[in-house]
Amino acid sequence: DWTTDSFIKDKVAELKETIGDRKVLCALSGGVDSSVAAVLVHKAIGDNLTCVFVDHGLLRKNEGDDVERIFRDTFDMNLIRVNCEDRFLSKLKGVTEPEAKRKIIGEEFIRVFEEESNKLGKMDFLVQGTIYPDIVESGLGGESATIKSHHNVGGLPEDVEFQIVEPLKELFKDEVRKIGLELGIEEKLIFRHPFPGPGLGIRVIGEVTKEKCDILREADAIYMEELRNAGLYREIWQAFATLPDVKTVGVMGDERTYAYLVGLRAVSSSDGMTSDWYKIPYDVLEKIANRIVNEVDGANRVVYDITSKPPGTIEWE
Ligand code: XMP
Repeated sequence: DWTTDSFIKDKVAELKETIGDRKVLCALSGGVDSSVAAVLVHKAIGDNLTCVFVDHGLLRKNEGDDVERIFRDTFDMNLIRVNCEDRFLSKLKGVTEPEAKRKIIGEEFIRVFEEESNKLGKMDFLVQGTIYPDIVESGLGGESATIKSHHNVGGLPEDVEFQIVEPLKELFKDEVRKIGLELGIEEKLIFRHPFPGPGLGIRVIGEVTKEKCDILREADAIYMEELRNAGLYREIWQAFATLPDVKTVGVMGDERTYAYLVGLRAVSSSDGMTSDWYKIPYDVLEKIANRIVNEVDGANRVVYDITSKPPGTIEWE
């Protein structure tokens, strides 16, 4: 009979046995799977685990600070946060094509991770948040897929020999969540929607700039806050704001405005392969739109995406 208690106990014992007093590296994304994997390994080997969190500047509002607070302050883990917003933004300058952006972000991520790993000296193991569905299918979506695709782009350097530790590889997502809660990871992180590895890089449509990322972060934060207030966040499989490269005319008081359009997306799905658009009640949409237009500098209009997948994709890029 599977219980979270016995899973944690057995896995911690197994990890201690396998790893001994050797050194372990973890690429922490702040997503559910890598977070639970990291906390589990930390429980087994403590300070012999070092987590590297690459903050590419394409994260949601407060996300980087939250990761630091949770893992460094709550769990007292060795955490290296690499702030490289400028580095990623300069690589992305002038680039508009979605796959080109993905490739740049993926490759740069690997480079930063390698640089940090080289600074740390010899590490024996690499923790991955792989879960069972990632192994049986292609594992589109979900942040473990993110980690995997990151490491598949160009792969890890040839001369670095890591053994891979995948403590969650027999588990389904709902089991990973239970383990995470049992380990004391906060609910907000455990029930977070999937977030793509390239982050806001593919939610700012067209060229990515700091200005556009900031506008999108503010709009998205309001959207998520109102979904939580309405009790809808956990009903919805994935929701987010996007910022198409479009400015429209509006009016505020007596002033004409000319500012960005914000797109809202919310879908129900079981695995991200197909999805229906989620029917958010009109009064909730109205509140979200009003708040975005009134509170976000640089945005003056909001549209709601009613496309299902297929033929639409979940992300806009
Ligand atoms: P689409 O847009 O293809 O998205 O319908 C399906 C799921 O995959 C996520 N997604 C990505 N995840 N790297 C990722 O790690 C990516 O490049 C990427 N593109 C899409 C998307 O958020 C959704 O959950």
